[in-house]
Amino acid sequence: MGRIVISGASGDLGRRVTDLLLKADPHVELTLVTRTPEKLGQRQTQGFRVSRGDYRDADSLDTAYSGADTLFLISGLNLGRRVSEHRTAIAAAQRAGIRHIVYTSVGGVQPNNPALSAKDHYQTELDLRASGLTYTILRNSLYSEIVSNVLVAPAAATGLMKQATGNDFLAPVAKSDVARSAATCLLQNERHAGAVYEITGTELLSFHDIATIGSEVHGVPIEYVPVSAEERLAFFDSVGIPRTYDPNMPPSADGHMWASDELVSAEVAIAEGYQAILSHHVKHITGQGPESLRSVMERCRSLRYDEIDAAVS
Ligand SMILES: NC(=O)c1ccc[n+]([C@@H]2O[C@H](COP(=O)([O-])OP(=O)(O)OC[C@H]3O[C@@H](n4cnc5c(N)ncnc54)[C@H](OP(=O)(O)O)[C@@H]3O)[C@@H](O)[C@H]2O)c1
Repeated sequence: MGRIVISGASGDLGRRVTDLLLKADPHVELTLVTRTPEKLGQRQTQGFRVSRGDYRDADSLDTAYSGADTLFLISGLNLGRRVSEHRTAIAAAQRAGIRHIVYTSVGGVQPNNPALSAKDHYQTELDLRASGLTYTILRNSLYSEIVSNVLVAPAAATGLMKQATGNDFLAPVAKSDVARSAATCLLQNERHAGAVYEITGTELLSFHDIATIGSEVHGVPIEYVPVSAEERLAFFDSVGIPRTYDPNMPPSADGHMWASDELVSAEVAIAEGYQAILSHHVKHITGQGPESLRSVMERCRSLRYDEIDAAVS
């Protein structure tokens, strides 16, 4: 097993996967690449190789990826711009002699999927296939923690969950299961070469089902009301969320940078059935089945989304 690069190592998934790799093999050779090395000061103190790397800066990636065999390419957040950012990372991996890339895509990647984020992932998946490197694609379903703490928890306060997600289904997945799947694919890259995995939770649920689970977990009635995309955009306008993602915009109260065109297009994609995917891939990859949405909700109910990390799951 050669050196593994975690690219995007200071984010939640990057940290979780780093922890899991070290747990599985304390001697694993790791390079932790991040735009903000100071956030990984503790790892540096522990003697790990921490390198500054930005998908918008090819030179930084040439240095950061050198000497590695496998790259964990954590998809960026710059909607629309990240296709070129990921291309920069893939090209840097080729120059560095990296053989295998594990990439975090999203469920329901198809050319007609209306979700703006899925369009980016669709193109990066094509770029990976054309790269000549071996790859493993993890098409991650919507995080259970987002469903639980961004969508359901606020609805527990008002009793009402209004979204443009229609009546179709999704199988939200716990971040810990995404992290376990990614760590295993990185450690066993030959076994998983060429695979496209649907990383889903335990069951297909509509938002009516999710509201019922939320009501039981929070002990208050929650009603789910499907609304139109226009209504949903108007709601986001009313709470000051910009329509279009701008990497320089200030984070909202929960510490994230949300843009309503991305959020609403993702909801419409659910309404149109693009997320209605249930697989056994988490168990196939890791040997252990995923955690249910109800369990994630119970575990995280008192936390803000950005307070949930590997320490609590
Ligand atoms: N399936 C889902 O429900 C879902 C939800 C949200 C996001 N996602 C996607 O999954 C990824 C991982 O999720 P997460 O929870 O770990 O997100 P997160 O905590 O918000 O972390 C964002 C990650 O993106 C990296 N990144 C962003 N822009 C970058 C750039 N220009 N150059 C290099 N790295 C960049 C960050 O790396 P550094 O900060 O270390 O540089 C960090 O690892 C996200 O980045 C996003 O693409 C999936």
